[in-house]
Amino acid sequence: MICGSFSLHPVGTGAAMHRAGYEALGLEGWHYEPFRVVDLAASVAAMRALGLRGVGVSMPFKIEILPYLDELDPVARSIGAVNTVVQRDGRLVGHNTDWVGALRAIEELRPLDASTRVLLLGAGGAARAVGHGLRRRGVSLALFNRDAEKAEGLARELGAAVAPPAHVQEPGPYEVLINATSVGMAEVDPGMPLAASALRPGLLVMDIVYKPIETSLVQQARAAGCTVIHGGRMLLHQAAAQFELYTGRAAPLDAMDRALQRAIGAPREST
Ligand code: ATR
Repeated sequence: MICGSFSLHPVGTGAAMHRAGYEALGLEGWHYEPFRVVDLAASVAAMRALGLRGVGVSMPFKIEILPYLDELDPVARSIGAVNTVVQRDGRLVGHNTDWVGALRAIEELRPLDASTRVLLLGAGGAARAVGHGLRRRGVSLALFNRDAEKAEGLARELGAAVAPPAHVQEPGPYEVLINATSVGMAEVDPGMPLAASALRPGLLVMDIVYKPIETSLVQQARAAGCTVIHGGRMLLHQAAAQFELYTGRAAPLDAMDRALQRAIGAPREST
């Protein structure tokens, strides 16, 4: 079986995790290849013609690939983006495991339910995926974004509130804080997505940025006594969910995590 990824600039972290998973389970004959896409329509046709089992999809193809698919799973349809395409009996089915990865990363540390108050930073593609996942758990959700209109639009769609600006300056009434902006990414803005004064001991802080793994938020949140989940954890869990869709087997998380660490230097455990 051949799986792979469709992206403009293949990076190899997905390949490292999936190949480690095949090896750990002794899945002989399974291969993973990162493909650099120069023509999306031709690449999708090749996926069908060559019988590729599944591909991971990164931006801008998460949205551009939608018209080429035969089916979408319901959450991917609500999000309006896929990060995973699985071929079943010649049909291409779009899934989104980004939200699964975010939820698993949090739920391995604490439950999420209607009593959980969550502050989600961002209103772009990543925030949409995470927000739709959180909505499935029925959490009490507040959004904050630099562009307030975008926050209002996504909040309406999700049935969420818009957080007052004070809540990114001083501690608000939240148990969980998620950074789904690109702030913290080395090549975008290595700074903080909110004021360090908004952090307090006991808050669970998850950053989805993983380049670098030790973002300013991860460092400051740890210093403030928060429970911290770095971006490598969501990356790992979204790949594990892909692995399960492709192979039908439970993902060997430890083996995939070790491969991810080698690829990006992620500390193994959340801190
Ligand atoms: P992604 O697919 O990673 O979510 P995106 O759709 O471009 O990327 O969204 C980027 C998010 O990071 C947005 O919420 C964006 O805020 P705006 O909607 O105000 O643009 C946020 N973001 C990016 N750079 C930022 C910065 N320097 N300060 C605050 N927010 C920033």
